This record gives sequence, structure tokens and C-alpha cells, in this order.
Amino acid sequence: MHATQVGTDVIKAAQLLAAGNVVAIPTETVYGLAANALNPDAVVKIFSIKGRPKFNPLIVHVPSIQAASNYVTAINDLTYKLASHFLPGPLSILLPRNMAVIPDIVCAGLPKVAIRIPNNAMALDLLNAISFPLCAPSANMFGYVSPTSAKHVLQGLQGNIPYILDAGESTIGLESTIVECINDTTIQVHRLGGLAVETIQQALPNVKIETTIPIHEQPQTSGQLKSHYATTTPLYYGTIENLLQNFTNTNIGIISLSKKYTSLNNEIHNYILSPNGSLETAAKNIFATLRLADGKHHVILAESMPNTGLGPAINDRLYRAQQVFKK
Ligand code: TXA
Ligand code: MG
Repeated sequence: MHATQVGTDVIKAAQLLAAGNVVAIPTETVYGLAANALNPDAVVKIFSIKGRPKFNPLIVHVPSIQAASNYVTAINDLTYKLASHFLPGPLSILLPRNMAVIPDIVCAGLPKVAIRIPNNAMALDLLNAISFPLCAPSANMFGYVSPTSAKHVLQGLQGNIPYILDAGESTIGLESTIVECINDTTIQVHRLGGLAVETIQQALPNVKIETTIPIHEQPQTSGQLKSHYATTTPLYYGTIENLLQNFTNTNIGIISLSKKYTSLNNEIHNYILSPNGSLETAAKNIFATLRLADGKHHVILAESMPNTGLGPAINDRLYRAQQVFKK
């Protein structure tokens, strides 16, 4: 494959995708590695380029809820309500898959399909320009930190894909929140993400939101799960004062929400996610900051965020990035 081009040509991206190629696309959450979801030969390329195991299903991106109806067998009332409040936006919804249309490889053979309408003008232009949906995981090598800019995509996939559609930095910075409407009064959360659970609850006060992630979807104990969102430099996550006690004479990068840390026994470099403590800003900056700190220190320590708004979703990513999960 030749050098990867970066540009803003939606028609070029559409043509490459229609011809069965994989193209990186911008979204408000993270950049995606997209292919025609109806073409198994194109979809399989995503898995090989990323080094992603095939049992990990992909999210299907469409321009509207009307378009989604071609790919699912039913859409319940609560799903329509969620869509009217939050879509386009950082929310993916699991729906019963139309098995005759969406190939097994997209959903790892599962009976449901995750549907997402990204809130990014260029992504929506692209989705409206093509006659098929796009499945897309984050556009990084499997296990590494997700990309929130075209530059990040290039760092990992240079030469492996023909084109990156560039819409600047992702505005949300965390992958979509994944939910399922169990019935017309209950929402099951499957992944914390860029839409805070509290925000969903405020919009739908009478709905019960189940946030205990089903056990088989939780990260397993050390050794059973390859770490995700992980830097090459070992990362430890928790309360910084406690973590610091384990180190002396060490060059340490500390990622925190707003506090500056010092240590008499170590060389410290502080990475502040949001000087005024905004969790939205922290979410937008977390992946870029992990990339910035990676390779520059002996260890990275990441502070646990407050348990409100996007805090739990950021904590989920930092938890999974830990050294303890690396094989
Ligand atoms: O924000 C996002 O969601 C980004 C951008 C590119 O849209 N995409 C993304 O994809 O984060 P990925 O591959 O990291 O998320 C896929 C996850 C799976 O690991 C699984 O947890 C869930 O979504 N998922 C997808 N399809 C599913 C299905 N059919 N059944 C159950 N879970 C599914
Ligand atoms: Mg990912």
C-alpha cells in the first residue's frame, strides 16, 4: 500500500469505501476505521488492519434513524425517544439485527447490532453520500489509545489505509455510550462513554437506567484481558498520593484533572486535563494526553476522576489502560 493521504474530500472517501476499501473517518467521539458494513470482504480488512479479534463486534454508523430501520427488525418506542433527544450524538443503541442484511462478521454472529448516528458534519455528509452503512471501530491498532485527530490515526496506521478524512479534533473525545432498551421503561448500559448516564436520566426521568455492566462484558482479571487504551509506558491509575509511595528516583508523568502534584523523591511532569476541573474538557483531552505522555517517562500515573458526569467513563478508560492488564 502507498502512503496514506489525509484530506477533506468526502466524495473521494465515498468512492474508496464503495470500492471495498477501508477509510478513516472523523466522528465527534473518536476517529473510526470504516468499511461498507454490507460487504464482508471489506469488513474483514478492518480486523486485519487493526489486529482486532473477530469475536469483538463492530458498531454500524448510519445518517438517520430512518436509515437504521433497514438494518434492524424492530425499533421500540424508548429507542425513538432516545434518538429524538440524543441523536446524532455520542450514543450507540443495540437493536435486533436484520440477519439477512447485516453480515455475521460485523456483529460477531450476535443477534443484535449496535447502531450509531455520529454528530459530525463531515461524517454525516459522507453517510448521506453513500448507499450503505459504515461499520467502524476506533482507528488505532488494537489495544492502543484511541485517536481523536487525523494525526493520531496516521501515527498508528500510516501506509495501511489509503485515506483519512480529516475534520479536525474530535469534540467529545470518548467513544459512544452503548445502551439497549430492554423494554419501554428500562435502559441497560453496555459501555460508559461520551454521553453521561445522568444526562440520559435527566431527559427521561421515568426510565430506569441499569448501569451495572453485564458480567461477561466487564474487564476480566489480570492475564485474561489484554489491556485497552494502553500506553507503551506502564500506567497506574488511582489516588496519586498513594501511587507515588511506590516510587523513588523515577521520572513520572502524572495525568490529573486540575491538581499539580510534587514529589521530593521523584522527577515529576504534570499533565493537567482541565485547569478549571471540567470533566467535558478532560474527556476531550484524555486520549491526546495519554499519547503525549507515552514514551517520555518511566511510568505514568493517572488520577481517578470524580464520580459524576463523564468522570466514570474516563475512569473506565484509565482502569483498562493499566499495566496490570498487559500480558
Ligand atoms: O464512538 C464510538 O462508538 C466509536 C466511533 C468510531 O463511532 N466506535 C467504537 O467502536 O468505539 P468499538 O469497536 O470500540 O466498540 C465496539 C463495542 C464492542 O466492543 C462491544 O462492546 C459493542 O461495541 N458492540 C458492538 N456491536 C455489538 C453487538 N452486536 N452486540 C453487543 N455489543 C456490541
Ligand atoms: Mg476501540
